[in-house]
Amino acid sequence: MIAADLSGFAVFFLGWLPYIGRMSEQTIERRFVAVSADTARLMGVDFIPIGKSSGASGSDAHSVTEPRAAEIEVKPFADRRAAPETAADSAPARVRGDRAKATRLLEELRVKYEADAPHQHFVTDHHTIVFGEGDPCARLMFIGEAPGAEEDKTGRPFIGKAGQLLDKMIVAMGLRRDEVYICNVLKTRPPGNATPTGREAELCKPYLIDQIRIVNPEVIVTLGLPASKTVLATEATMGSLRGKFAKVAFPPENGILKSVRELHSEGIEIPVMPTYHPAYLLRDYTPENRKKVWSDLLQVVKLLGLTPKVPAAE
Ligand code: URA
Repeated sequence: MIAADLSGFAVFFLGWLPYIGRMSEQTIERRFVAVSADTARLMGVDFIPIGKSSGASGSDAHSVTEPRAAEIEVKPFADRRAAPETAADSAPARVRGDRAKATRLLEELRVKYEADAPHQHFVTDHHTIVFGEGDPCARLMFIGEAPGAEEDKTGRPFIGKAGQLLDKMIVAMGLRRDEVYICNVLKTRPPGNATPTGREAELCKPYLIDQIRIVNPEVIVTLGLPASKTVLATEATMGSLRGKFAKVAFPPENGILKSVRELHSEGIEIPVMPTYHPAYLLRDYTPENRKKVWSDLLQVVKLLGLTPKVPAAE
């Protein structure tokens, strides 16, 4: 069914021009303004293959009756990291953490997760623990709900159909997959890809919080409702959460490792952008949903001062 949805690629105008005027980085403005109306039409939309529109149903479909997440002021983050870094062409000058230390701590956390095996307290259908992968000092972290079949086979998050779509989104945002950090709330595959229960998510959350605290990204994107609910500690619906930054605190006492607790003893706050899960998009591949996800991601692009990738004109 998904294969049928992957029948080709389409482009549509996303109305992104209003973003141009609000971009703060000169480089971004120069490059954005240089893009012609024709290429604007193509901008950032090839990350989503076209498929049948099946209406706005599905578990992630939105309701407007739920409370909204707290909005944050969107501005480039001040220096929250330890060591200076050379400014890349696509990003503003920034500093980032100690990669060797972050790598060591992530490994320590992975070993701790394996020893504790919080998934022993619920039913799984896993062969492999899918802990997470990517840049240990990534500026951007994606959090999904749980590994699927492909991920369980390989031990890598988001490498199946949904992962391939996520890869396209990352590239459209002006990044490479190895520049971000990707993980899930649950590290083990649920039977039949069932949605994680609240209890399962709570059992795994301390490990996720330590992952967040180690990577200390400038922005988190939560993919789908289970991840958004877990990270934002809310019962709101996806439709009411998506598209708005929520500033979330990750206090030391909510993690699991003592060594991570000492990292940022005062706790950290990170803006979180909830958006639809790529698997939901593949199921309900309407222009409306594609446009919503891309507009959510453009807010992240803007906050990070990235330059979205312009697909070659046809
Ligand atoms: N869906 C998820 O939430 N995570 C994965 O790793 C793959 C699919």
